[in-house]
Amino acid sequence: MRIAIVGGALQGMEAVLLAKAAGYETVVLDRKQSAPAMSLCDQPVCLDPTKDPEGALRIFQGCDAVIPACEEMDLLKTLDGMKGKMGAPLLFDLRSYNISSSKNRSNEIMASVGVPLPQPWPQCGFPAIVKPASQSGSVGVTVAHNDDDVKRGLEIVKSLNDEPVMQEFVHGKSVSIEVIGNGTTAKSYVTTEVCLDSNYDCKMVRCNPNIMSEEDCELFGKIGKDVAEAIGLSALMDVEAILTPKGLRVLEIDARIPSQTPAAIEAATGVNLLEELTTTALGKPADRKPVEGSSIYRHVYLKDGKLRSSGEKEFGHVVRPRFAPGLFGSDNSITDYEPGKEEWHATLISKGRTEQEAEDRAAACIERILDECSIDEFLDGTPEMI
Ligand SMILES: Nc1ncnc2c1ncn2[C@@H]1O[C@H](COP(=O)(O)OP(=O)(O)O)[C@@H](O)[C@H]1O
Ligand SMILES: [Mg+2]
Repeated sequence: MRIAIVGGALQGMEAVLLAKAAGYETVVLDRKQSAPAMSLCDQPVCLDPTKDPEGALRIFQGCDAVIPACEEMDLLKTLDGMKGKMGAPLLFDLRSYNISSSKNRSNEIMASVGVPLPQPWPQCGFPAIVKPASQSGSVGVTVAHNDDDVKRGLEIVKSLNDEPVMQEFVHGKSVSIEVIGNGTTAKSYVTTEVCLDSNYDCKMVRCNPNIMSEEDCELFGKIGKDVAEAIGLSALMDVEAILTPKGLRVLEIDARIPSQTPAAIEAATGVNLLEELTTTALGKPADRKPVEGSSIYRHVYLKDGKLRSSGEKEFGHVVRPRFAPGLFGSDNSITDYEPGKEEWHATLISKGRTEQEAEDRAAACIERILDECSIDEFLDGTPEMI
C-alpha cells in the first residue's frame, strides 16, 4: 500500500505516523519543502496541487489512496474535483467537511437528532461562551461573565468576519471520539481525553479504558454514529465533547483527519484509524479489535533552559523532525532533538498495560529529559481563564 498525504503540517505528521504503523509507504505533498512531515515520509514532493494539478495527478495515480491533511478550502476543493481521475479513493468527504466547518449548521443537525449540546444563549445565562462559527483551534473563543464581555466577544467574532455561536459555558473533562462512515452507516471508535495548555491548545491526549464510565462511552459512540449517519459521512470525523456533571455536552464535529488523538488510540489499542479509513474506502474494513491498553501522547518544548509542555501549535514549529522510538524511554517520538541542542520540540508517546503504567512511563520520560539534559524545571501550563 502506498498512500499520498496532501499537507505536511500537524495532520500530515499524524497521517505519516499512522501510515507507517499500518505498514504503508508514504508520499507527502506540500508546497513548502520545510513542512515537517516531509522529513518523516518515504517520498517528499514539493508541489501545490492547486497550481500544478497535472503533476499532483501523476503522483496520485501511483498511489492506492489519497488523504488530504489540511484545512485549506481551495486545496480541498481542488482535490475533490480530481476524485474521478486519481485512480485511487480520496479519503475525504467535502460535503460533510462543509457541514462540520459551520458550528451553526452542525449544531442544528445535531440538535435535530437529539444530541445533547450546551444550552443556547440567552436561556443559559452567564457564564457563556462566545465563539466564531467557522474557525478552528480555539481561535476567537471567549468566556462572557457579563454584558460587556458579550460585547467584546461579539466584536472579536466580527473582526474574524464570522458569525457567533453563543452557548452555555460547560465544565468538565474534554473528550473526543472518531467516527468513520461509508456514506450510509457509520462506526464509532475509541474515546480519548484531550488536555489543554494555557493557550487552550491541546498539549496531551490520554487513551485508556477509564476516561469515562462504560455507559458514557457507549452513549458517546452512539452520538458519533447518529451524527455521522445524519450527515451521510463518507470518511472520518471526530466529535468533541465535555463530560459535565449533567452528562456529555457536544462542542463540535470536524470531518477531517484529526491530529493527536488517532496516534494515542493506535498506541493504546492497536486500532489504526488511517488503516480503518483506507480499508473502509476500499470496501474491506480492517475492523481491528481494540486491545485493552493505555497511552499518553504529549508535546514538550525546550527553550531558554526550561522544558515546557507545549500545545500542538507550538509543536508545529518542529524543524525537519524524525521518528525516534525509544527516545528518553518513550515508545515513539517525533522530534528534532539532538544532544546539546538548546531549542527543540518532541512529541512523546508512552504506552502501558494500565492507565497507571502509561502515566508512570510518561512521567519517567520527563524525568529522564531533565536529568540527561541538566534542566531544573518542567513547566506544565494549564488553562487559566477557564
Ligand atoms: N460551551 C463551551 N463551554 C466550555 N468551553 C468551551 C465551550 N465551547 C468551546 N469551549 C472551549 O473552547 C475550545 C474550542 O472550542 P471548539 O468549539 O472546540 O472550537 P474549535 O476547536 O473549532 O476552535 C474547546 O476545546 C473548549 O476548551
Ligand atoms: Mg475544537
